[in-house]
Formats: sequence, structure tokens, C-alpha cells
Amino acid sequence: MASHATHAVGVDIGGTGIKAGLVDLAGGRLISDRVKVATPAGAEPADVLQAVRGVLDRLGVTDASIALGVAFPAIVKRGRTLSAANVSDAWIGFEAEKFFEDGLGRDIHFANDADVAGIAELRYGAAKDQDGLTILTTLGTGIGSALLYDGVLIPNSELGHVQRAEHGRDAEAYAAYSAMERDELSWEAWAERLQWYYSHIEFLFSPDLFIVGGGVSKHAGKFLPLLKLATPIVPAVHRNNAGIIGAAALSLLGARALRDDTAG
Ligand code: BGC
Repeated sequence: MASHATHAVGVDIGGTGIKAGLVDLAGGRLISDRVKVATPAGAEPADVLQAVRGVLDRLGVTDASIALGVAFPAIVKRGRTLSAANVSDAWIGFEAEKFFEDGLGRDIHFANDADVAGIAELRYGAAKDQDGLTILTTLGTGIGSALLYDGVLIPNSELGHVQRAEHGRDAEAYAAYSAMERDELSWEAWAERLQWYYSHIEFLFSPDLFIVGGGVSKHAGKFLPLLKLATPIVPAVHRNNAGIIGAAALSLLGARALRDDTAG
């Protein structure tokens, strides 16, 4: 669809905020203000849809003439959301893509939030031209992950849900940025938790590169230098806009966005 278009809209739905922007896909950059609203309490489908309508109105994108990609913090398979870690359980087994399409009266493309951040970094950022295994993690309300192998995304990896045996709970409950805020941790104390997390992921996957996204990646200098890993670890070039940019890229390129065809 719209193969000659160079602009698209990305909406990045998170557990805490819903962000959107107009994206130039040639350069992979925002060409509008970044619009943000709080995710409605409870994150029920109807309320999230209403909030998405609101950000699109504020962006002035109310018709279907420009492609729209929507990213969501759950496992997404064939347009259905299959999990709900930081949103209402109503999303489990829900025809989410169709729900947004019906509610917005237009086509959309729909995928996991960390996966689309991976697409953005693959096409326009820190994962571009990277051989081997790159693992992008987003540190926010939860921990999202994108596995990128030789320029191809392997979707729905959900590495925020590896278990920390000592605590019997998911890694994201212990090491996400929301855990730092909740437990009022210093950068050093949070970095100790991240050290456990990234060492564990490094042991499980032997990656070639870690990329760190999410809002806190703009403060990467405060915590990444504290980590001791064999794997290089860098902030996402697009920081917290990677989700918006990747969702927009997905909307124009569809399945082609899942692979770095800009390389070589
Ligand atoms: C969800 C993932 C999501 C991540 C970041 C996790 O709780 O299970 O699907 O990518 O949060 O939003």
C-alpha cells in the first residue's frame, strides 16, 4: 500500500503514556511535535481507543490518507493481543487490530511496542548493519525486548518476563524503570538490578550487541557505564521515539519493515 508515500504516523501505546508523531520515513525522524497523553487508568480497550483518537486529533491526522502504525505493550499475533502485563486483562485474546480499525474507521498496522522500537533501530539507528544477534530492551513501565538477528526481527520475544528465581517474580517487576521509581532507587542501586538482568540475558543468548530504549535511555550516561558486561551496550539512537518511528515504518512497509533491506 501507499508505496510512494514517505510520511506515516506512529502511535506508541505504553503502560503509562500514549505517544504519537508524524514520521519522515526516508530519514527515520519525527517531523511533527511529539504528542503525549497519559494511558487511561486500567487501560481498558474503549478508553485506550478514545485516547488514541485524542492524540490523532491533536496531530491533525483524522483521515486515512496517511498510513498509521500502532504499537502496543503485549504479545501481538495476527492482529490479536495475547497477553496483558501492564494493561487490562481484556486485551488477552482480543482482536485488537480490528478493534482499532473499526474504532478509527481506517486501516492500521499493529505490532508489539518493543518490536517496533527494534524496527526503528534496525532501519535508522544503532542496529543498522549489525551482524549477529542484537537484543534491544526498552526500560519503562515494563521491560520490552526485540531480538534482531542479521537484520531480521524475531517478534514477540518477551524477555521482560524471565524469572528472577530469588524473588519468584518477573524481571520487569524488579528491574524496569518503573521499579526504580517505585522503590526510589539511586542510579547505582538500579544499576545493580540491571547488572543482574543483562548478565542473565547475556548468559542465555550470547548477543553481539545490547541496545537500551525507553524514556530513561535519555539518561543512559548515568547507568550504562556502571554495567560490566562482555557485550557492548548502547542507548537507542532514537531514545523514546523509537516506538513512534518504528510503528510508522511498519505502517508503510508492512512485513518488509521486519528486515533491514536498506543495508548493502
Ligand atoms: C509486555 C511486553 C512489552 C513490554 C514493554 C511487557 O510487560 O509483556 O509485551 O513489550 O512490557 O512495554
